[in-house]
Amino acid sequence: MLRTHTCGELRKSDAGKRVTLCGWVDHQRDQGGLAFLWLRDRYGITQITFSQDAGNSPEEAELLLQKARQLRQEFVIQVEGEVMARPEGGENRALATGEIEIRPLSLEILNKSDVPPVQPSIPDLPSEDIRLQYRFLDLRRPDMQKSLALRHRMIKIMRDYTDEQGFLEVETPVLGRSTPEGARDYLVPSRVHPGKFYALPQSPQLYKQLLMIAGYDRYVQVARCFRDEDLRADRQPEFTQLDLEMSFVSMEDVMAMMDGLMARLAKDLLGIELTLPLPRMSYADAMEKYGHDAPDLRFGMEIVDLTDLAKTCSFRVFRETADAGNRVRAVVAKGAAEGFSRKRIDEWTRWAVENFGVKGLAWFKGVEGTLQSPIAKNFDESLLQQFRERLEVADGDLVFIIADTFETSCRALNGIRRRLGKELELYDPKAMHFSWIVDFPMLEFDDEEQRWVAVHHPFTAPLPQDVPLLETDPRACRAAAYDIVINGLEAGGGSIRIHDNALQQKIFQLLGIDDATAQDRFGFLLDALRFGAPPHGGIALGIDRLAMIFANLDSIRDVIAFPKTARATDLMTGAPGEVDEKQLRELELKIQSSSSTS
Ligand code: AMO
Ligand code: AMP
Repeated sequence: MLRTHTCGELRKSDAGKRVTLCGWVDHQRDQGGLAFLWLRDRYGITQITFSQDAGNSPEEAELLLQKARQLRQEFVIQVEGEVMARPEGGENRALATGEIEIRPLSLEILNKSDVPPVQPSIPDLPSEDIRLQYRFLDLRRPDMQKSLALRHRMIKIMRDYTDEQGFLEVETPVLGRSTPEGARDYLVPSRVHPGKFYALPQSPQLYKQLLMIAGYDRYVQVARCFRDEDLRADRQPEFTQLDLEMSFVSMEDVMAMMDGLMARLAKDLLGIELTLPLPRMSYADAMEKYGHDAPDLRFGMEIVDLTDLAKTCSFRVFRETADAGNRVRAVVAKGAAEGFSRKRIDEWTRWAVENFGVKGLAWFKGVEGTLQSPIAKNFDESLLQQFRERLEVADGDLVFIIADTFETSCRALNGIRRRLGKELELYDPKAMHFSWIVDFPMLEFDDEEQRWVAVHHPFTAPLPQDVPLLETDPRACRAAAYDIVINGLEAGGGSIRIHDNALQQKIFQLLGIDDATAQDRFGFLLDALRFGAPPHGGIALGIDRLAMIFANLDSIRDVIAFPKTARATDLMTGAPGEVDEKQLRELELKIQSSSSTS
């Protein structure tokens, strides 16, 4: 080993020891005859103090000081020296090693560095593009190292927990056939079978079901998944799931198993004790009260329905919306009226119109026992009082109202509620709220494609009591599916699966997948379902999202070592890139027209 200790290791009790440290020059401070150097590795920072006392003689001390002055940021060095306790009062509490410093005896430059475009020692970050281009430098930052260490511990706990519960980790193929999870597939052309393609897995869904049919009983995998979909802060084209599946279980069993895992993660990683079972809410309630199937429950501010009252007012927008069978709904921001000038409300209105496609944003302020707004003249006083009562408005409160279809009002009120929560600081940013959303609809109608699509995926079972609805009212049929939601983000989702061949075929039919296509794409599953498929179900957790939430960060890119941009490119390697003509010829592929990707 080139070193005896790491840069995060030495304490007062090590004083007097002769040690050798290696690391990167974080930064230096020169004070005439004295130079302080912070040496950094992933374990921490240790101060090396170059003074007259360095080396074995004043001459050596001078030589070492001169050598130290040649060092620049991010040079890699090896320092041998003596651990010295810092004088009483001279400790640096910001460093774990702040009780000591090193009196150097020798200094070796192991490698130089150009001026780094990302400086790990500086809290001000360059643009994210620069960080991604020089990711190897960005990853030297203690924050990134902390995130990746948290992610490592998270996966370790997941593996330990599932191992204790009897799960077997089984690897499933990356080159496979397309599994519909709702996104576009990444395709890989086959050289051996020109014109044919593998699909990278959107998830190991079908393989894990086949493992249940094969009798493996409890499967788990830390699985890489690939989805060619529009990216956001919480989505990457390739991401990692803790994917698992269990045989002979009900929804309750899967959820209880996950409750235990969440409690372990919260306790071991954050020191938070969760109360189990985690709370549950139906999809219908979540949409009605929060306008979203992954509600942020760190704060209240439930949506209030005013449709019945709106029917009786003379404000045309409200009345006509209510009469058309659509909805007039509101959220109340307690005590927020004063902070919302006309100008600020106008800005929010424009934002709501642009982002959620609403026609406007109506508002009231609670003032002197009644409601004030430019539209108040359309409401007689007794109706205003009914609004006040329903909304539980006090003086100083601000009410935002949306009149629109249920779907649009959900979208808008969810957005408004989340923005209010954040801007008015309605929750402790360190708070964690875990819940289950259950009773999802099984199917939704895709207007564009004019057909039913599976809300979770086509292998999800209906709730047993809702099976008859598949014939009479598919929209009302609920799925045996569950999502785990943390702080307003979907962290995972799963379901009990269809284990009956006839029911699976029927669902394919409902989804507009004809028999021939079903046989071609999922014949292996339909076959397997005829050979003793046990009842089974499972779930997948998004590890990147979970790590982001636990690290209290806003982007999953900050918990992924080498992430892609929102345009699915890797700025460091330049992927996706062009390939040689020869490679294309071997695959019998021809590029028809190259559309610009800049
Ligand atoms: P689902 O599609 O809900 O279910 O995915 C499970 C979890 O994976 C995470 N996730 C993502 N994370 C980052 N980037 C993405 N593009 C991305 N897409 C999904 C989310 C999500 O909750 N096979 C089923 C699971 C099952 O039924 O067992 C599935 O993949 O956190
Ligand atoms: P208008 O009658 O269009 O001038 O709108 C009067 C007020 O009602 C404005 O504050 C609009 O933003 C608001 N408004 C208009 N349409 C809607 C709607 N569908 N839902 C909520 N508020 C609306």
